[in-house]
Amino acid sequence: MKFFYFSISIICFGAILWLSGCATERNSMRPSTLSQSTQEKIPAASRSNAALAADQNFWDVFHNAKYDEIQPVLEQMTGAYLRDPTDPVTASHIGWLHIWRISERERMAMVTPSITDDAVLARKYFQEASSINPSDARFLGFLAASTLSEGTIHHNEPEISEGNVLMRKAIVAWPEFNLFTAGYMLSTKPVDTAEFKQGLEWQWENLSLCVGEKISRTDPDYSSSVTKITTVGPKRACWNSTVAPHNFEGFFLNMGDMLVKSGDWKVAQKIYTLAKSSPDYSSWKFAPLLEERISNAQSNITPFASNKGLMINSKVSCMACHQS
Ligand code: HEC
Repeated sequence: MKFFYFSISIICFGAILWLSGCATERNSMRPSTLSQSTQEKIPAASRSNAALAADQNFWDVFHNAKYDEIQPVLEQMTGAYLRDPTDPVTASHIGWLHIWRISERERMAMVTPSITDDAVLARKYFQEASSINPSDARFLGFLAASTLSEGTIHHNEPEISEGNVLMRKAIVAWPEFNLFTAGYMLSTKPVDTAEFKQGLEWQWENLSLCVGEKISRTDPDYSSSVTKITTVGPKRACWNSTVAPHNFEGFFLNMGDMLVKSGDWKVAQKIYTLAKSSPDYSSWKFAPLLEERISNAQSNITPFASNKGLMINSKVSCMACHQS
């Protein structure tokens, strides 16, 4: 069981490799390849009542961390999709439910091999969402992430390469959102690899981009951030919102984990501490977890090096940012 768990941890959010079987499959289904960002499916003019009802349950279950209720919501959401497969929001929410289940599998009493099918299905639904609405770079970022996961699970190098190409496009399309996504995916890579270092570099770049100034790598000061908070435009991905009520805190939790893993535990402590400057910090359920991380920064270097306890492999892989 332990071995299996470990092998899964590399799968999910964590790789840079990929897609030939898939490319062939796609080519046989339609004339163009996934890499094209042109619209391939005509979006629905309006959302159905079934989709709206499914969304209501989706947000309740997701924001309240009702992990055990993923399956019933998935049934409802998939039912709505089958009635209207041209609704990109419904397709994406199916993708996110699958990604949530596999990412927070630590919550399960027992993890079985077929959990890996969630990566396959997530990729499928993000592909649909993206082809209906190519302009939503969140769909593209998660298509890239799930393509990387699927390729890694199936040892499909061309698929991994395609995931990397998609991720680069997603970063260009919406860096404030996808620099995090891309770097988070790389947090499970071995610490001395170029991929891990790139992932950490992307977190620093994300910070600088959000406040429009260079952030010191030894004594990070993020105090200007409070004056820049917004809920609109691409920069909204830097702060908290109704969709991601603790995005800011969750961002620093992961970045601190990556710094600890790299051995830089003193800078990690400073980065973790920046989460406390969030105006919503007092309502964040994971403040005690953050305190523990600060206290144990040095002793966490070894377990984190083997990805044990790292945010991405934990029960709060999504909930650190999304639980309200
Ligand atoms: C570092 C914080 C963070 C983590 C971790 C994170 N997200 Fe998000 N998520 C965000 C932000 C920011 C947005 C964009 C909100 C917006 O569009 O304004 C977002 C958007 C979303 C949406 C929005 C869909 C919609 O219709 O608006 C869903 C669903 C979602 N994430 C699911 C997940 C899942 C599942 C995971 C875990 C695999 C996850 N997220 C991990 C920060 C995070």
